[in-house]
Amino acid sequence: MATLARPAALPLEVLDIGNPHLWTEYTHVLPYLAEMRRAGPVHWCPESMYGPYWNIVSHHHIMEVEGRPDIFSSSWERGGITIADRPEGRQDEPQMPMFIAMDRPEHTGQRRTVAPAFTPAEMVRQTADIRRRTAELLDSLPVGEEFDWVDKVSIELTTGMLAILFDFPWADRRLLTKWSDAATDFEAIEDDELNKKRWEELFEMVAYFTNLWNERANKEPRPDLISMMIHSDATKNMTPQEYLGNLVLLIVGGNDTTRNTMSGSAMVQNLYRDNWSKMMADPSLISNGVSELIRWQTPLAHMRRTATQDFEVGGQLIRAGEKVVMWYLSANRDEGIFPNADIFDPTRENARRHLSFGFGIHRCVGARLAELQIGILLEEMQKRRMKVEITGEPVRVYSSFVHGFRGLPVVMTRG
Ligand code: HEM
Repeated sequence: MATLARPAALPLEVLDIGNPHLWTEYTHVLPYLAEMRRAGPVHWCPESMYGPYWNIVSHHHIMEVEGRPDIFSSSWERGGITIADRPEGRQDEPQMPMFIAMDRPEHTGQRRTVAPAFTPAEMVRQTADIRRRTAELLDSLPVGEEFDWVDKVSIELTTGMLAILFDFPWADRRLLTKWSDAATDFEAIEDDELNKKRWEELFEMVAYFTNLWNERANKEPRPDLISMMIHSDATKNMTPQEYLGNLVLLIVGGNDTTRNTMSGSAMVQNLYRDNWSKMMADPSLISNGVSELIRWQTPLAHMRRTATQDFEVGGQLIRAGEKVVMWYLSANRDEGIFPNADIFDPTRENARRHLSFGFGIHRCVGARLAELQIGILLEEMQKRRMKVEITGEPVRVYSSFVHGFRGLPVVMTRG
């Protein structure tokens, strides 16, 4: 596998910004993306561990690509939505068709099936419970002692939310974390032995969820995601692979992303103390601060598309069949749209223009729920005058797709 001895010495023509090694060290990623933006909106990477691919790095051109879903396909049959293709020699592994990796018309019906779980009315129904769980969790944290913010706060809150959405047995909820991590474990995907174990975990997930499906199949419709799939024409006859794919989508969608924004809250509190304090002193800034935090963190660094025909973007001719990687993290640091983009600023006027949720027909269906959970976390921290001090090196996820943290040691105090 390609390793980077001196990343700073790499010229853009051979830079493989998708290499996950760069993302665990991280300090190199943002300067590279900035250099790419200065050089132009669209770049070709001729060779990488994931094969050749195009990089789209400007806010404007990512919207252009996402706005043409018929030309830039999300379909799993063409390669799906992440930079990594199915590794060679793994042709007998099951595919995971999921609606985020489908084009119209299949995408439309399946998205519509789960959308009722995320309406404004549903958010109102969920609010009191999210607030109670968040408050209880914050009150249970140790004061003045080191603990891992990722494990105790980010994972616990998002996994609990998912368990509620699926009406999943509460005592087993950490299984959802295990399966979500397995689904996106780039390190395991690259290693035959680890990958075998990864698949064992995913099969365990399907078996578990198949039992839940069977238990609920002949019951009245209820507002949980499994019951919604059972009672929708678009999803009631899914193949086992499609069921697996859509479970992974909902579990990863609801888990890794919100989790890493919550971890980002501890980061910005330490990196941008004045702006954080400003928000804590004036809770009316929290709602915009949530969008700003999601912009700043950008929990999914990219989405990928595959060109279905030749098409020019940003002055470059992209040919049919070529892989196109849209770097949301770069769009969200695009100085033409967000001045002083590296800084977390809860008063930023256009924070909501971030592309962390994507754009167009695949724009995140869970966006409102993510904002609600993160907003409640910040409000409850504000009420408790919580101060979270980072006490060691953050451990970053080995991935250029999921952009976040494996561990974040902190000590908490109250003002
Ligand atoms: C801060 C938190 C979140 C971020 C940053 C995020 C990000 C994204 C992104 C980038 C996409 C693809 C957009 C595109 O291709 O244009 C997406 C789609 C999706 N997200 Fe989220 N997401 C978050 C939270 C959630 C939550 C809480 C759920 C559900 C529990 C969820 C479920 C989904 C689903 C089902 C899709 C597929 C939508 C489609 O293909 O039509 N996400 N999300």
